[in-house]
Amino acid sequence: MRYTLLLPAITLCCSTLPLTARAAGDLNMICSADVVVCEHMTRLFSQSHTDIKVNMVRLSAGEAYARIRSEARNPRTDIWWAGTGDPHMQAADEKLTQPYHSPLLSQQHDWAQKQAEISDFRTVGIYAGALGWGYNTKLLAEKKLKAPACWSDLLDPGFKGEIQIANPNSSGTAYNTLATLVQIMGEDHAFDYLKKLNANISQYTKSGSAPVKAAARGETTVGIVFMHDAVAMEVDGFPVKTVAPCEGTGYEIGSMSIVKGARNLANAKVWYDWALSADAQSHMKEAKSFQLPSNTKAEISQYAPRFENIKLIDYDFKTYGDSAKRKALLSRWDKEIGASAQ
Ligand code: F6P
Repeated sequence: MRYTLLLPAITLCCSTLPLTARAAGDLNMICSADVVVCEHMTRLFSQSHTDIKVNMVRLSAGEAYARIRSEARNPRTDIWWAGTGDPHMQAADEKLTQPYHSPLLSQQHDWAQKQAEISDFRTVGIYAGALGWGYNTKLLAEKKLKAPACWSDLLDPGFKGEIQIANPNSSGTAYNTLATLVQIMGEDHAFDYLKKLNANISQYTKSGSAPVKAAARGETTVGIVFMHDAVAMEVDGFPVKTVAPCEGTGYEIGSMSIVKGARNLANAKVWYDWALSADAQSHMKEAKSFQLPSNTKAEISQYAPRFENIKLIDYDFKTYGDSAKRKALLSRWDKEIGASAQ
């Protein structure tokens, strides 16, 4: 008698639990864009996907890559959204991320689809942005410095202690800068340039956009960053001017990848498809995220630096997204620049 009463209760308990867990499913996400847009997009997604709880952590792209590598045997992260494409490519190269063919892939610009093709569909482009810097116009005038228009201008001894850039080990922006200079000047000349520039650098920050935020607050004169991050400071009303370097510059294809062995794979795909949609991408500008969106139908902010107005190099995403290349460039940077950083 007892058994017959207990059995249905056990069936009820154990069949409903997994269902409940699925209905309130989690999505563990690393976000490598600016924290404001990370929070904005997480909130928007949660409003339309009330059954998925997004646990988001913001990490710079180099840190995110290191985290995903360290979790390889026991992945905690399901999806890595945003951040420069180079470390996404490096994660793909090491098969830390898994292939996914989104039904929305064909709606993306060629550059975003190409990112997927060259990584065997382990990553995809979601936005693009060019590298440059922002300077504080008031400080520049006070210090009687010439407005820096070219990479070479940043070596002027007048800028001693007046420039900030991030550390390329933690920051995707700074790795993209390192790779850009190597592509423009050749590796040895780029390292000579970086050694000279080092004399003018007051701080190597952890996050890529921190230098221009410091310039906006008047804590440094120049911040080497993606142009859209400098523009965001201008739009916020700070005395910042955004520059596209005269010699030419590199750019990022901000990317997104699903982690291999993701525990919440179905939820990761739901985010992935949503994040490639024109509707989701059109909301990014509300958080002053002024990159060029990958979806051809997404609205482009009036403030987004347009590629047609910038002298861009033909950035080699495959070569500089190779993990051996990353290791070699970063160990040289650590030895020749990081070790003697002031
Ligand atoms: O602030 C936004 C942004 O510049 C993105 O466009 C870019 O992908 C990311 O930050 C890089 O951040 P970090 O240099 O901190 O890795």
